[in-house]
Amino acid sequence: MINRKPAQESFREHILLLREFVRAPLSTATIAPSSRHLAHRMALSVDLEKAGSVVELGPGTGALTSELLRRLRHDARFLAVELNPVLAADWQRQFPRHQMAVGSVADLRQICSQHQIGNVDCIVSALPWPSFPSELQESGLEEVVDVLRPGGQMVTFGYHVGMLMPSGRNFVRLIEQKFRRVERLKWVWRNLPPAYILRCTK
Ligand SMILES: C[S@@+](CC[C@H](N)C(=O)[O-])C[C@H]1O[C@@H](n2cnc3c(N)ncnc32)[C@H](O)[C@@H]1O
Repeated sequence: MINRKPAQESFREHILLLREFVRAPLSTATIAPSSRHLAHRMALSVDLEKAGSVVELGPGTGALTSELLRRLRHDARFLAVELNPVLAADWQRQFPRHQMAVGSVADLRQICSQHQIGNVDCIVSALPWPSFPSELQESGLEEVVDVLRPGGQMVTFGYHVGMLMPSGRNFVRLIEQKFRRVERLKWVWRNLPPAYILRCTK
């Protein structure tokens, strides 16, 4: 069953994300939280039930988080990493028992070591990779690959328009260089805009 948030809470999260988009359009990169359908499919795209350590990148208002948490083993380590302190504070209020690091994927190695989390099994990314400058795409992906265990996986989603941009194509070229295997999973139509999921295995 796919979780549905109460309408009032969902409305509040839409407004918060929209406000942050107006303030920081490139890093927020969306005016609406991901749908519960995308959250569900992202959670099913990696083996969360077997994972001992999971990192969520760019959780924003937590659109994917509940779906991830409800599949996690009770003894698994979970760390969320969010650049925007306003969104991070909102996330922490919603998930007070879970760890949040305010910071960038560019510092993921250091963040993971500060939180004593290593050899990560799964990284679930909602980062707007195509909006990143090429240096951040490159350094962020290096950090991701470095903290993953061999065989570990990153799942991320993209929108058609983003992947058509030169920076989107650069991102795909980089993941194909840095990961042993890249799989393009099915489209999720029930999301605004429709999204597809990429699963990258180290
Ligand atoms: C497209 S939104 C996704 C929000 C939410 N996970 C969802 O699916 O609705 C991208 C999120 O990534 C965060 N972000 C952007 N750049 C980042 C970076 N360099 N490191 C960590 N988080 C970042 C943004 O602040 C924002 O919360």
